[in-house]
Amino acid sequence: ISTLLSDVPEGQLFVLTDTNSAEHCLPLFVDFIGDIPYHLLTLEAGEKNKNLESVQLVWNFLLKHRATREAVLINLGGGMITDLGGFAAATYMRGIRFVNIPTTLLAMVDASSGGKTGIDYQGVKNVIGTFTPPVSTLINPVFLRTLPTDELLSGFAEMLKHALIASQEEWVKLLQLLDEELPHNQFVETLNDTGALQASIAIKEKVVSQDPHEAGLRKILNFGHTVGHAIESAALERNALPHGYCVLWGMVAEVYLSVVKLGCPREVLQQLTQVMLQYYGRPQCDCNQREQLIQRMYQDKKNSANRTPNFTLLRAVGEPKINQYVSEQDIDEALEYLFSL
Ligand code: GLY
Repeated sequence: ISTLLSDVPEGQLFVLTDTNSAEHCLPLFVDFIGDIPYHLLTLEAGEKNKNLESVQLVWNFLLKHRATREAVLINLGGGMITDLGGFAAATYMRGIRFVNIPTTLLAMVDASSGGKTGIDYQGVKNVIGTFTPPVSTLINPVFLRTLPTDELLSGFAEMLKHALIASQEEWVKLLQLLDEELPHNQFVETLNDTGALQASIAIKEKVVSQDPHEAGLRKILNFGHTVGHAIESAALERNALPHGYCVLWGMVAEVYLSVVKLGCPREVLQQLTQVMLQYYGRPQCDCNQREQLIQRMYQDKKNSANRTPNFTLLRAVGEPKINQYVSEQDIDEALEYLFSL
C-alpha cells in the first residue's frame, strides 16, 4: 500500500470507513500504512445508508479538506463503502483516484472489483452509479477474521454463484468446503489456504476483463440477482437483509427456472436447496408478495423495453445463458417453489 500511495501529495489522502470497519478494521489498516497522514470520514454502517445523503457527506468531506484531482480516496469496508465511496470518487471533480480495501467476504469476491460503483435510490438497488475501476483492490484475508458467520455466509453465496457459472469442479469444491468447515473457525483460513477465495475472484475478473461495461457476457455475474434484488429491494423498506442471502434465495428460484426452461439437471436444484435449508434458512420475505416481487423485477438493469424480466439461467453448472426472457407465470411458479420450502 505504501508503494501505491507514494505519489499522493501531502494532505490528499482520504479514508472512508463505516462504523463497523472503523471499529474492527481501521486499527489493522493503521498498522499497514504506518505514519502516512490521512483524513478520515466514518459513515453509519448499513445498506440503508447507501444513499445520496451519504454521498453528499463524502463530497462535503472532500471539499472541506480541499481535495484536488491528485487526491486518493481509500474505501475501507464492505460493499456499501466500496460501492458508495467509488461513486463519490468517480463524480467528485469528474473523477479522482480510489483504492478499495474490502473487509467483508462479499466485497472481496465481488463488490470491490469490476468497477461498478453506485447507490440505492427510490427503493431500487444500485440504480444510480457508474462503471469506474479502482486504481487497485487490495485484499488481505486477515479482515475476514473480524466477521460474524452470517456475514461470511453472505459472501459465500456470491462464491457459490461464481462456481455455478464457472464449472462443476468449482461447484463441488465449494460444497465440500461448506460441509467440512462451517461453522468452524477454520472456515476463513480454509477459504484462503485452499485457494477458494483467489479462484472466486479470478472467475469474476476474467468475465469483467472481457466485458467491463456489461454489454453481454458480464450479465452471467447477475445470476440469482433478478429475483435476489427484488427480495432485497422489497425488504429494504422495512429492514435490510444481507445481500448474499437474497442472492442465494434468488439462485434457488432461478435454478428452478433453469430446470424448467433449459433442462438444467434437477440435482443442481436439490443441492442448492439443501445448502439453503442447512445454512441460510427460508427466505425472510412475505410469501404473499409474489406479484409485487415480479413487478420489482421489471426494474432490473438487464431488462429491455417492452419485454418480460430478463434472467441469466443455467443450462448446467458452468453453462450460463444470458438474456432469458421468462413469462410472469413461470416466475410465479419459481417463487411458489422457493416459498414452499
Ligand atoms: N456483481 C456483478 C458484477 O459486478 O457484474
